[in-house]
Amino acid sequence: MTDRATELREAGRDIISLSVGEPDFATPPHVVQAAKDALDQGLTRYTPVTGMARLKQAAALHFRRDLGIEADPANIVVTAGGKQALFEVLCASVGEGDEVIVPAPWWVSYPQMVRFAGGRVVPLITHARDNFRFDAADLAALITPKTQWLLLNSPGNPTGATYPAEMLQGIGKLLRDHPRVMVLSDDIYAPLNYTGARHATLANVCPDLADQICTISGVSKSHAMTGFRIGVATGPAWLIEAMGRLQSNSSGNPASISQAAAIAAFEGPQEFLAEWREVFRARRDLVVGRINAIPGLSTPVPEGAFYCFIDASPLMERFGGDDTRLALHLLEHGVAVVAASAFGGRNGFRISFAAEETVLEEAMHRIAAALA
Ligand SMILES: Cc1ncc(COP(=O)(O)O)c(C=O)c1O
Repeated sequence: MTDRATELREAGRDIISLSVGEPDFATPPHVVQAAKDALDQGLTRYTPVTGMARLKQAAALHFRRDLGIEADPANIVVTAGGKQALFEVLCASVGEGDEVIVPAPWWVSYPQMVRFAGGRVVPLITHARDNFRFDAADLAALITPKTQWLLLNSPGNPTGATYPAEMLQGIGKLLRDHPRVMVLSDDIYAPLNYTGARHATLANVCPDLADQICTISGVSKSHAMTGFRIGVATGPAWLIEAMGRLQSNSSGNPASISQAAAIAAFEGPQEFLAEWREVFRARRDLVVGRINAIPGLSTPVPEGAFYCFIDASPLMERFGGDDTRLALHLLEHGVAVVAASAFGGRNGFRISFAAEETVLEEAMHRIAAALA
C-alpha cells in the first residue's frame, strides 16, 4: 500500500499515508552528530561481527534501565534492525515441523520468518473485546510436545496490545510447567506504552525463566532511527552464540556508523522519549475518538505502539467481504491504510497514527467521507 500510495502521489494525487510503521519525528540531533563524528573519525571498517564492545555495554544499560533485564554484554548480539534479530533467532533454533505460536493479528514478518525457518505457524487468535490480548489459558490450549516458541510482542504491532505485569506472571506460571517452550519477546515498542505503568516484559517479571526467554529491542521505533538498522537481542548463551555464527556467515557486522549512532541513542538523553510518548498519546486519542464516531467502524483503545486496528465488519458486504478492496477504496479517497488480512486479521484495516494531528484530522475526514 505504501508503494501504491507513492505511485499515486507521483501521479499528482494527494495521498495521506497512514500505512507506514515508523515515527514521523526527526532522528535526535545528538544521534545524527554521533554518526557524522564516526565518519570523520574513520570508523569505516569491519567491527566485531556481533557488535562493538561499547555498544554491547550501552545495550546492557538499555536492557537494565528501560526493560529491567540484567543482560551480560557477552550475551548480547547487535543486529541490522530488530528484524534481523528475530530472523536469526528462528533460523538458528527452529527445526522442520517445530511449532511456533504466533498471536494473531500479528506483525506481517513473523509467520514468514517461521515458515522460512521450517517451522509451523500456530495462530493464537485474539479479539478486540480483549484488547487483542491472550491469557495463560488461551496459550495452554495450544501447547503441544512440538511447541518450540511463543512470539510475544508488547506493545504490539498491529493492535497496540500491551501486556501488564500480572498477565505476564500468569503466562510465566504456565511456562514453568513447559520448560521446553521458549518465548521470543519483541519489545521494540517498549517506550510507547500509554498505560502510565512501567513497561512490563517477561524476563523482568519472571527472571527465573531467563533461560527460556530471548528479548529483542532496538532503536528503530524508540529513537526514530528506522534507517540506521540497529537491533539488539539478549537470551541464553547457546542461542546468542548460534545467532552470532549465523550473522558471521551472512551479513557480518551491522554498519559501523549506525553502531556509533546507537551508542549515542542508548547512552544519551532519554527525556525526549516521554515527550514523544505524550504526543503519540494525544494523536491516539484523537484518532480513536474519530474512528469510533464513524458508522460501521470501531477500534479498542490501543495501549501502546502507534497503530489502531480497526474493525469494519458492518461495512464489509459493500466490499464483497474483502478488506483489501476496502483498503483500495480508502486509497482512492486519499488515505493509504493496510488491510487487516495482511496481519492475519479480517474485516478491517490498520492505520498508523505516527503523523501530525492536522494530517490525522484530514485523514479521518476522508475515511468518513469514503465510507458515508
Ligand atoms: C513488531 C515489530 N518488530 C520488529 C520490527 C522491526 O524493526 P526494525 O526496523 O528494527 O527491524 C518491527 C518493524 O516494523 C515491528 O513492527
